[in-house]
Parts: sequence; C-alpha cells; structure tokens
Amino acid sequence: MNQILETIKIRRSVRSYLDRPVSQEILEEIIECGRFAPTALGRQPWHFTVVTDRGLIKEIVGEIKKKVRLMLKLKFLLRPLYPDLADKKFLSIAKERAYSAEDRFFYNAPVLIMVSTLKKSTHGLKDSFLAAQNIMLAAHTLGLGTCVIGFAEAINKSDKILKKLKLPSLHKVQVTLTLGYPKVKLDHLPERRKDNSTFI
Ligand SMILES: Cc1cc2nc3c(=O)[nH]c(=O)nc-3n(C[C@H](O)[C@H](O)[C@H](O)COP(=O)(O)O)c2cc1C
Repeated sequence: MNQILETIKIRRSVRSYLDRPVSQEILEEIIECGRFAPTALGRQPWHFTVVTDRGLIKEIVGEIKKKVRLMLKLKFLLRPLYPDLADKKFLSIAKERAYSAEDRFFYNAPVLIMVSTLKKSTHGLKDSFLAAQNIMLAAHTLGLGTCVIGFAEAINKSDKILKKLKLPSLHKVQVTLTLGYPKVKLDHLPERRKDNSTFI
C-alpha cells in the first residue's frame, strides 16, 4: 500500500510510553511537519510548545487533576458549557483519572507538545488540530507514539502553568499531544464506521 495511506490507517493513540528521551533533532523534524499544515488565510498563527521537563509535566498533571475534580463537583452547573458532563462514560473516565494516584492524563509520556494560538481567533482551533494531525502522522512514521489529550484543555484555567509554558501573549492552548516511544506495539486496527459518507 502507498506509505502515506498506510500511515494514516495504522496510526493509533498510544497510552503507554518507554522511559526513553526523544532527541532534539527528531522533535524539531516533527514540529517542522506541523508547520506544513494548512491554515486559514495562510496565517500560520500557531506557537508550538515542546515540554520535556519531567518536573513540569508532573506539575501539569497535578493541576489537571485539581481542575477536573472541581469540574466534576460543579457538573450540574457546568453542563450547559460542557455537554460531556451529561455523558456517563465521560464522567466515569474523568473520575477515574482525576482520583488516580498514577499519571492517567499523560500516561508518563516523556514529551508534551502544545499547539497554541490567540484566544480570540476564528480559526485557531481548526488550524491547531490540522498541525497536530501532521505531527501525529510524522511521529508515527518515526517510530513514535502520540495521543491527543482533551483533558489538557484545563491548562488554560491555570495561570501558574500558563506562565511556566511561556506562551506568546494572549495565546491559549488549543491542543495538547503526548509523545514518546511506545511501550507496546499496537497492531490491532480499530473498526471504523462505514455508514457516515454520502456520495452524490
Ligand atoms: C479531541 C480529542 C480529545 C481526546 N482526548 C483524549 C484524552 O483526554 N485522553 C486519551 O487517552 N485519549 C484522548 N483522545 C484520543 C481518542 O480517544 C482516540 O483518538 C480514539 O479513541 C480513537 O483511537 P485511535 O486514535 O487509536 O484511532 C482524544 C482525541 C480527540 C480527537
């Protein structure tokens, strides 16, 4: 099969990482692939933040745990803003992760990559996820694993962490990825729905 088609189809979210650092050269190559994603009006509005500082990653996990616990406590109040707070599966996963003694948010990944753009932007989220997908595919072809971490959105509610991430002024984190060498090889291809296309 064509290499790109194969990469797209066999990439999987990785939730278990080796305790092995990723070289600066590889990190730069992966970020460079993010830069080649399309952006609205060709603005290239992103900033890429690569965190390899284990202490900071641990601190971020701690902050996310606190924010997710608070969100769970206020779930009835926050439902209009976060419809997931009415979803039983989401609530059970959030509870398990927020109260676990382990790192159940970043899975002990040695690297985090955050893509940020201006808070007030029409296309920032879309631009960021397209870059993130390039990063995930590039990482996969280099033998690395990644996972989008939606819970990491909570970072935006922590001024303390935002300051440590040194984001450009008025930026927010749009997407956070874990990155690292996978502990296990995932060779099971997930079922994909086939009932979601229309050809006219
Ligand atoms: C917006 C978004 C948020 C996600 N958040 C999380 C998360 O917080 N934790 C996690 O382990 N996986 C998260 N994922 C990964 C999905 O669970 C995963 O992509 C999905 O189960 C399909 O599996 P695959 O990526 O292996 O094909 C997220 C994916 C997306 C697109």
